[in-house]
Amino acid sequence: MISQKSVQQILETAKVEEVVEEYVNLKRRGVNMLGLCPFHNEKTPSFTVSPAKNIYKCFGCGKGGNAVQFLMEHENFTFPEALRHLAQKYNIEIEETQTSRENIEERQLLDSLYIITQFAKEYYADQLLNTSKGKSIGLSYFKERGYREESIKKFGLGFAPEKRDNFTLTAVQKGFNIELLRKIALTSKHNSDFFRNRVMFPIHNLAGKVIGFGGRTLQKGKKIPKYINSPETEIYNKSKVLYGAFHAKKGIRQEDECILVEGYTDVISLHQAGIENVVASSGTSLTVGQIRLIKRYTPNIKIIYDGDPAGVKAALRGLDLILEQDMNVKVVLLPEGEDPDSYLQQLGSSDFKQFIDENAKDFILLKTNLLIEETKGDPVKKAGLIKDIVSSIAWIPDPLKRSVYAKECSNVLELDEHVLIDAINKVVKQKLYKKRQQDQIASPKSQQQLTEELLSLEPSPESGLGNLKTDKRPPVSLLEFQEKDIARILIASGGELFDKENNVTVAAYILSNIEEVMNDFDNKICEKIAKECLQLLADKKPITTQHFTNHEDAEISQFSIDLIHTPFEFSPNWKAFWDIDLQTQPLPDQNFLKDSIYALHRFKLKKIIQMCEKNQERLKAFNEKENTTKMMKLLKMQQRLITMRDELAKKLNTVVLK
Ligand code: UTP
Ligand code: MN
Repeated sequence: MISQKSVQQILETAKVEEVVEEYVNLKRRGVNMLGLCPFHNEKTPSFTVSPAKNIYKCFGCGKGGNAVQFLMEHENFTFPEALRHLAQKYNIEIEETQTSRENIEERQLLDSLYIITQFAKEYYADQLLNTSKGKSIGLSYFKERGYREESIKKFGLGFAPEKRDNFTLTAVQKGFNIELLRKIALTSKHNSDFFRNRVMFPIHNLAGKVIGFGGRTLQKGKKIPKYINSPETEIYNKSKVLYGAFHAKKGIRQEDECILVEGYTDVISLHQAGIENVVASSGTSLTVGQIRLIKRYTPNIKIIYDGDPAGVKAALRGLDLILEQDMNVKVVLLPEGEDPDSYLQQLGSSDFKQFIDENAKDFILLKTNLLIEETKGDPVKKAGLIKDIVSSIAWIPDPLKRSVYAKECSNVLELDEHVLIDAINKVVKQKLYKKRQQDQIASPKSQQQLTEELLSLEPSPESGLGNLKTDKRPPVSLLEFQEKDIARILIASGGELFDKENNVTVAAYILSNIEEVMNDFDNKICEKIAKECLQLLADKKPITTQHFTNHEDAEISQFSIDLIHTPFEFSPNWKAFWDIDLQTQPLPDQNFLKDSIYALHRFKLKKIIQMCEKNQERLKAFNEKENTTKMMKLLKMQQRLITMRDELAKKLNTVVLK
């Protein structure tokens, strides 16, 4: 593991603007820098980088973070990968902790496996390009298929010779451990090569490292599999890998669309034709992991199907899991007998592009249209189809989208729209109930959201969309606002001096005033932040903005970044909720002293009002026969709370109206 010291050093050294600038064209705007957001499509820049705070934030899509988070998001690096990348960029030597020997061994094992796969890739490429068999069998095959040298290099294509153990012998001679060669499945347990007499397609992970291979035989008519593929290993998890993803990720982001094909050769041909947002499922059915991988880059997916109509229909039935991920799915059907590679060769690249653009059909509508033909005159079949379509639509999480599909499909199915909508809602409800049952560990909040969602499905005949309402998010909890305010000030200016003479920091001032409610936060992240500040104070460590925006707990760092980057806006909520007018104040950055005092007053006022209400409830619950001394106590307390409330309100220069 990377030591905490190194992590800190990297975080302190890495300048977010220098990292972002490698990907985004940034222009100075006052103290900040501005550019087009790399995470969503936009024409006017809303992607802001603050060198002073060392963070970025997009006001369009809401993404924000520090240099490490930028790399994790943009390059899909893991946390350690991003750190290592930055360490390299800034010439920082990484110190590894000795704490967990297993971790180190595990890392070393993975590193060695990657070194072997890289070696194997180079070995097979060398065989292809520099040996006579490789050239005459492998290379001529690729050339015949129209592959240019640059494509062969780009995808690292190779050739595995026929001899029983040519690769294994070479590898062992180079000092590679035979056990590891077996572990990565390039060598069998009898020490022969796994891939023999095949052209080789290395499979890369998102970071571009080789994790496995596919090998295609060139022998026609023999009863051997056309392709053999590396099995799953420590570094190759098939359900999370798509062939070509490393080479396609830039194109996918640029086009905001991912094209999905079946074969290795389809990916390479399309790339060569300038269509670079293509990946392959490698002939197997899609997994949720693979869809999530695509979803990191785009919600739009276009699947090109080859094969016979029966196969396509079967495949269409298996696509609901894409809908569940809230992806927009289009499907292109090729003429029978063609695959993307062959059809591209036939049409040429510009006609092929035109073909896929013009023939991309919405998945659900296509499925409905294709399958309806089969049901002509057969009511039982038709009922089955309706069920099928209903279940597909019910997978779509977005209610508005569901309603649009309900409308269109009801036309094709010649069915009353509302009948279809009712059926869809029933399935959605069932799904939600099921989910609720499965989510036993889920937080109360998501339970509440589920209930709300269920309620929103109750019939409302007058609504034009049937009873499918648009997704209304619950309002941001106004009650949490004051707590966030406190957290914001602690993060933004906790370390500033509140009282210069006595050397009291803003954090110390605030925390000493709210100590008694430290365990009563409604927002647990705010509570964590407050408690952590308390700890930092106790340890006499500085409280800095960076401490929180770079926090190792991703939840805290994200929360902090959002907090300090959110435009200052307490007045409207405050007024709407408590019905209190506040003085307008300068922005907190310019006025943290006043800001802290007011935030504290607001926070306390909120807590007191809450206590008042609780007390009131208890008072109501009393009946006359009961212990009157206790009741008197409560009444007194209520009196005191009201006095405190009014005093605080006065301090805030406001009037409590109720
Ligand atoms: P295809 O049979 O369509 O092959 O299988 P292809 O990719 O078009 O190859 P060419 O054009 O005939 O050379 C599609 C994908 O299914 C997987 C491979 O990933 C292949 O690219 N497959 C196919 C296997 O894994 N094993 C097989 O035996 C066949
Ligand atoms: Mn093919």
